[in-house]
Amino acid sequence: MKKDFSKISFLSLFLLFSVAPQLIQARKNNSQMLTVKSTTFETNNTKMHRGINIGNALEAPNEGDWGVVIKDEYFKIIREAGFDTVRIPIRWSNHAGSVPPYKIDDNFFKRVDWVVNKSLEQGLITIINIHHYEEIMQKPEEHEDRFLALWKQISEHYRNYPDTLYFELLNEPNGALTSDIWNKFIEEAVSIIRETNPTRKIIIGPADWNSVYKLKELKVPEGDKNIIVTFHFYTPFEFTHQGAEWVSPSPPVGKKWIGNEAEQKQITDELDIAVRWATEHNNISLFMGEFGAYSKADMASRVRWTYFVAREAEKRNIAWAYWEFCSGFGAYDPVKNEWREDLLNALIPPPNKYYVSVDTEHGSILGSGWYNEGSYATIKISETSLGFLVQDVFDHFEGLGSRDIVIDARTVKVYVNGPRIIRAVWRKDYTMALLTTLGVGIILGVAILLYKIQRFSLLSVDFRNATLHSSLVLFSLHTFLRLGSLKLKQQR
Ligand code: BGC
Repeated sequence: MKKDFSKISFLSLFLLFSVAPQLIQARKNNSQMLTVKSTTFETNNTKMHRGINIGNALEAPNEGDWGVVIKDEYFKIIREAGFDTVRIPIRWSNHAGSVPPYKIDDNFFKRVDWVVNKSLEQGLITIINIHHYEEIMQKPEEHEDRFLALWKQISEHYRNYPDTLYFELLNEPNGALTSDIWNKFIEEAVSIIRETNPTRKIIIGPADWNSVYKLKELKVPEGDKNIIVTFHFYTPFEFTHQGAEWVSPSPPVGKKWIGNEAEQKQITDELDIAVRWATEHNNISLFMGEFGAYSKADMASRVRWTYFVAREAEKRNIAWAYWEFCSGFGAYDPVKNEWREDLLNALIPPPNKYYVSVDTEHGSILGSGWYNEGSYATIKISETSLGFLVQDVFDHFEGLGSRDIVIDARTVKVYVNGPRIIRAVWRKDYTMALLTTLGVGIILGVAILLYKIQRFSLLSVDFRNATLHSSLVLFSLHTFLRLGSLKLKQQR
């Protein structure tokens, strides 16, 4: 009886070693990857193309409160990097009287003048707006007069400035400032500005945080050829705002943006909403005044997303401004005083350089970055198997081509003849889990069997003998499992 039992168990183990691993290997589906093209583009009504927001500075309660004080050299740095536009968010509401005539503080005006002048000196199109006027979002009607008084003072103050200074009425109207109320405020503010600035570009955007979905409710002042329409773009929000402390609840960190077909479509569909709307509105110029992914997302995903959104906007003649220069989304590192090159290149792609994007679901992988055309990028994965009972086992690199060179089981050299996307594909390996389960099952079976034999005296073995036999079986099974797992490792 004992003999028969061990035959069955050895047969099962044999089957397990030879057939099960093949049956249980699961491969992940290969997702379709993004292709990237560089394009040139023209916008109808403006010379704006590629811009950046100097955020978290003048729209903080006081400049510096959020860690950014605008420096003289920023504008040169921005222009030399290839941007033609700067958007400067400004919290005027914190620097103006709360009762009529709602006078803007002279020193604050001086500070804004200095910033605007430095920007204009660099030949940058310079957008100033009203930003973080939180109170108007809560009680729009109570703040209507003050909002209009702010624009009256700002527009009079800058009436003689060059036409490369643009006004943007209000950042991200939301809350109680619904489309209906906002449309009325737009009409009023535009007519006040036009008294002193008949042809200055004025940027207006839809309600609900400048959402493309609210464009259909936006009323553009009729007959004014110098209106530009803005929208903000942070889709998918769970990716761009992961870990954002100012969002409640904050989307969890760890979401990647790979650029598969579905992810791309989500973006192009939204951009197309804006384009379709503009087509129905005399091809009015569009400006994607903010887009960006917060620094808590992984850099490779940020680069892929930023590159994709910027290029898709350009293909549609949409001017853009990245959110933002040197803070939480920053393309520029203010401590090292240098651009974060991966992000800068995603915004303004350098000639003859391509992004090699490498990605892995498990462990870590080296090699993401911008490389010269014709060079090789070395890609290396840190681990090839992770976990104990159910293991994640590195299977292969997806996206390799004929000119790529495999160096060893975890390293490959990728030839850079265009943008490359390489993904480490993993599979689940349940062999150890199955072997362990089976081993435990067998041990339990033998133990029960021996116990029963002893109890019903089917054979003349006493309990001590039974324990001895059981231990012997356990020991041989243990040895067998170890040998089996060693053999599996060697096969890999
Ligand atoms: C806000 C910023 C915020 C950004 C992204 C901007 O409009 O002013 O405070 O960081 O959007 O959420």
